[in-house]
Amino acid sequence: MVTIAIYPGSFDPVTLGHLDIIERACKLFDRAIVAVLCNPQKTPLFTVEERIEQIKISTQHLKNVEVDSFNGLTVEYARSQNAKVLLRGLRVLSDFEKELQMAHMNKTLSNEIETVFLATSTEYGFLSSSVVKEIAKFGGSIEHLVPQHVALKLYQCYAQTPPGNT
Ligand code: PNS
Repeated sequence: MVTIAIYPGSFDPVTLGHLDIIERACKLFDRAIVAVLCNPQKTPLFTVEERIEQIKISTQHLKNVEVDSFNGLTVEYARSQNAKVLLRGLRVLSDFEKELQMAHMNKTLSNEIETVFLATSTEYGFLSSSVVKEIAKFGGSIEHLVPQHVALKLYQCYAQTPPGNT
């Protein structure tokens, strides 16, 4: 049986923490689908198309990754892809409550789909897309937090010059 894992999220933008989870998922599952949520309730910095492009560039060295977008319920999207696993990264204790609630809720919606949590690697335990955006907005260094092509896009968005290029 082929095991397909869906890794859903906003990815606004993708960080090295997300990529760490994706790389590890590729070793655990036959296929990993990174699924970018089109969420009309949020005003993202990057469009869905831009985020998909950023993730595709960042994962081109991985053979069993696909990048897609979805609307609506994650479990419905997982079903449409014949996936039995929803993958989420866990960083700190404060993630746990929200993630556990989401896992329980998804289980009530679709009993055959399991949520699998991967503990974020220690060096990315503090990292989030929001923190990266905040640092980039003020021209701080983010090269150790996101892929270089994403860092350049962030500095462009905020009309900042990358540190060291002044
Ligand atoms: O990267 P994020 O923003 O933490 O990802 C959250 C995401 C996209 C996984 C979550 O909001 C989600 O699954 N949204 C789709 C709607 C849904 O299925 N809701 C029910 C889960 S309680």
